[in-house]
Amino acid sequence: MDVIQAIRERRSINFFEPGRDLSSQTIRDLLELAKLAPSSMNLQPWRVIVVNDPERKKTLRQCAFDQPKVEEASVVLIMVADPVALEENLDAVLGSWVQLGYMKPEAVETYQGLAGKLYRAADSLTRKFFAVKNTSLYAMNVMIAAKGFGLETHPMDGFDEEAVKKAFLIPGDKIIPMLIAVGYLKSGITLLPRAYRKTFEDFVTFNSYR
Ligand SMILES: Cc1cc2nc3c(=O)[nH]c(=O)nc-3n(C[C@H](O)[C@H](O)[C@H](O)COP(=O)(O)O)c2cc1C
Repeated sequence: MDVIQAIRERRSINFFEPGRDLSSQTIRDLLELAKLAPSSMNLQPWRVIVVNDPERKKTLRQCAFDQPKVEEASVVLIMVADPVALEENLDAVLGSWVQLGYMKPEAVETYQGLAGKLYRAADSLTRKFFAVKNTSLYAMNVMIAAKGFGLETHPMDGFDEEAVKKAFLIPGDKIIPMLIAVGYLKSGITLLPRAYRKTFEDFVTFNSYR
């Protein structure tokens, strides 16, 4: 499937075929492919918790306002945005840039300063935006890549973030931008036509907001 077709055909699926597992290899292939997403300074501030155990899916469903798809999908991914990924990953990123010839070793300090300036303190709003926007790009890649693997998805923000953090041992400083259900369309289900989208003129202007 080419990328244009994948974008055209991706839908948020409400009815997953229950009881269909995804192999660990498929889960790995999907999440590995999606990590080629771009990110601010290549810092990749995302973590993913793969929920495929039936009991854990039940728990997650309770945290997600009882949405049946959380239990019926093959797996549900808890997307975790990590504001402190900057501190954790910056050395690895800059080291690889030096090693691959993207920059000279003497530029490392400048980049360290730049990162701190751009993304502020670890508990700042800027840093939260940094973590969430990049994790959302990763999440979009997962959903498009899933189509290429013959899978369907459904992103969700209908959940109690504190409850998910507590049940899945996620530290308080992390953010959960969304859950993504992944699996197969339930047999016999026909999707309704795709719903309302803005017209081009509704959301695009050239060279200025107005
Ligand atoms: C971040 C995000 C959160 C969403 N949360 C939910 C949700 O909790 N429950 C739900 O049924 N749909 C949820 N949706 C799905 C949207 O309703 C859906 O994407 C939209 O109606 C467009 O439909 P489509 O994805 O099939 O094109 C969410 C979508 C996104 C991107």
